[in-house]
Amino acid sequence: MKRMLWLLLCVNLLAAEEFNYDEAKVPPYELPLLLMDSAGKSVTSAEAWQAMRREEIHQLLESEMFGKAPARPKLRLVVVEEATLAFDGKAMRKQVRVAMGEADNAPFLDVLVYTPVGVKKVPVIFGLNFLGNHTVQNDPQIRTSKSWVKMGEFPQATRSEEVPRGQDASKWQVAAAIARGYGVVTAYYGDIDPDFDDQWKNGVHALNPNVEGTRDGQTWGSLAAWAWGMSLVMDYLETEPLVDADAVAVQGFSRLGKAALWAAACDQRFAVVISQQSGAGGAALNKRIYGETVGRLNQSFPHWFCGNFKRYSENEKAMAFDSHFLLSLVAPRPLLVTSAVGDQWADPRGEFLAAGLVGPVYALFGKQGLMAKEMPLPLQLVDSQVGYFLHPGKHDVTAEDWKAYADFCDKHLKK
Ligand code: GCU
Repeated sequence: MKRMLWLLLCVNLLAAEEFNYDEAKVPPYELPLLLMDSAGKSVTSAEAWQAMRREEIHQLLESEMFGKAPARPKLRLVVVEEATLAFDGKAMRKQVRVAMGEADNAPFLDVLVYTPVGVKKVPVIFGLNFLGNHTVQNDPQIRTSKSWVKMGEFPQATRSEEVPRGQDASKWQVAAAIARGYGVVTAYYGDIDPDFDDQWKNGVHALNPNVEGTRDGQTWGSLAAWAWGMSLVMDYLETEPLVDADAVAVQGFSRLGKAALWAAACDQRFAVVISQQSGAGGAALNKRIYGETVGRLNQSFPHWFCGNFKRYSENEKAMAFDSHFLLSLVAPRPLLVTSAVGDQWADPRGEFLAAGLVGPVYALFGKQGLMAKEMPLPLQLVDSQVGYFLHPGKHDVTAEDWKAYADFCDKHLKK
């Protein structure tokens, strides 16, 4: 046992050595310009951005990073629980099964909706969860999922339903959001695509044998599949009377933050975007080679991005894009980027810098980009149209983050 622990410690130390956490060792890097199109022409108006440059950037990220998603199927919605009082009468809970297609055996995801009592058409914060809907609150009425669950998060479990209720409740401050007038909507990411490399057989991949059978470097990976699933939820929310579909803030933590950014890039119905410690492959500038690298992403999670993204492993210099391109696709919508002091793996400074870089695109729309030249102190929300927030702890979602979400949405999301 002791030898085993010793070995583990050595492996961890070696791994820590491999990655850069020293600002002085960030190599010089050159970032491609947002407002210069591929023909070398400057983009000087919101119209030119929307009509041409935005599409160019979207296509670049689609073919080199996330991959192309197939069209979304026609949904079949089944209300599995009508709106019912929850939280000692302080909220309404509703659950709707979203079948991905009209066939009886179409795969499905269950959407859990909490809204404040007595109001309709409320603004909501929507994000996918990591362990299953029943883990976001200790509420016995939440449906469980039989889908695969990530080992390690809760070591005894192999399926979502085996994880205890409320296991991730601290990451989902539903009561606080409700008290601030926001609904909370969530669905389980494993219902869309289980998060392991299975050669594209499970989850939504099974739905699209033609796409998977002719796979190339540009075919979608799991991040694009989760983003696609978020748009399916949005398709449903457009039909949901409790929710104001014009006031949906899409939120995502960590890998789901990467997915939320891509969802917002592909689907402009998301009114506000909240990237919570999305790190490498998300909001952080990859060319800084600080913390997690592209090579490490591709090695640990070969199924997340499309095949072409492998070209950039240990080769960030060759990228004709970086995370500011991804963030720019949110413009002119409000964007909140959050980081954690203790999450250097996700490169908080790289996330802050990328948020600052999209200012010129927002300026085309007469909107204020990030109103901070230096990183703010922890817990001080920068609430400009591109916002930034840093929490003092580790890789996590905290009550302070939810307070920042509500403060940011109070300012920017239609109420
Ligand atoms: C790993 C991974 C990150 C990812 C994170 C998460 O740490 O390296 O890229 O964001 O998992 O999703 O929790």
